[in-house]
Amino acid sequence: MRSLIDIQELSVKEIDEMMDVADDIIANPKKYENACRGKKIATLFFEPSTRTRLSFEAAMYELGGNVLGFSEAQSSSASKGESVADTAKVVSCYADIIAMRHPKEGAPLVASMNATVPVINAGDGGHNHPTQTLADLLTIRREKGRVNNLTIGFCGDLKFGRTVHSLISALSRYTGIKVVLISPNELKLPGYIKSDVMDKNGMAYTETTDLMEVLPELDILYMTRVQGERFFSEEEYLRLRDSYILTPEKMACAKSDLAVLHPLPRVNEIAVGVDADPRACYFKQVLNGKYMRMALILKLLEVTV
Ligand code: NCD
Repeated sequence: MRSLIDIQELSVKEIDEMMDVADDIIANPKKYENACRGKKIATLFFEPSTRTRLSFEAAMYELGGNVLGFSEAQSSSASKGESVADTAKVVSCYADIIAMRHPKEGAPLVASMNATVPVINAGDGGHNHPTQTLADLLTIRREKGRVNNLTIGFCGDLKFGRTVHSLISALSRYTGIKVVLISPNELKLPGYIKSDVMDKNGMAYTETTDLMEVLPELDILYMTRVQGERFFSEEEYLRLRDSYILTPEKMACAKSDLAVLHPLPRVNEIAVGVDADPRACYFKQVLNGKYMRMALILKLLEVTV
């Protein structure tokens, strides 16, 4: 039995195969409509979510399965003091697979060590978010036709942005990727990711505070929200939250085949005017997330279609 806590647990070959499954689901949805008949996913969300929780639920429904769970810690026994380990043991009695989001780094890992069914990390604090990475990778492949040999800019809150951490970790195993890290000095990518992931895998990267200086060279621009909920100081958040705002005027300096990604929710960092630009891919990315979660559920439940 396998869980998915960190994207490194999937080999590049497995990720590529899951993207093939997602492409097939997109082309032949009917083929999959009964694949998980009689199976249940529990979505245990101790932190707010729109896309991730609903896309897991939509994914399971589209595979013919069912859904149970909760969307806030207050409505679960965590509010009475139950441990994550006990919650995982209990929910294993009701569901065939668990998707868990938690504000504490490592909580889904603890759940996976105690559950008797697969556990999927649906975001743990400022740490990792492997299923968003699956959505991001499929979007990159469908937009650019490849995941290798791309210059990818990450812009915004690279310190607390868990989707950035997981995507860089996945990309470090593809070839010919050049990463451009664009952030205020206060929100730079954590040193452990540079040393343990990028340097270790010989991944090329540069760092800058200036989006406009590097925008013309990018194939992908991955925008992120400044993660206010992880700041210790409200004042610091207010000072940094609008560090970067992508506008139609700025898009004029970018490549004609740039793809703009964003895990969403967007706050201010992409002007609504950019949405009409064919290079804006963030809403397609949402849909791709559902298909990759379908592929992941099939894989972890060992269902072949
Ligand atoms: C992201 C997250 O939760 O980390 N959202 C998502 O799952 N798509 C990004 C964010 O909250 O900024």
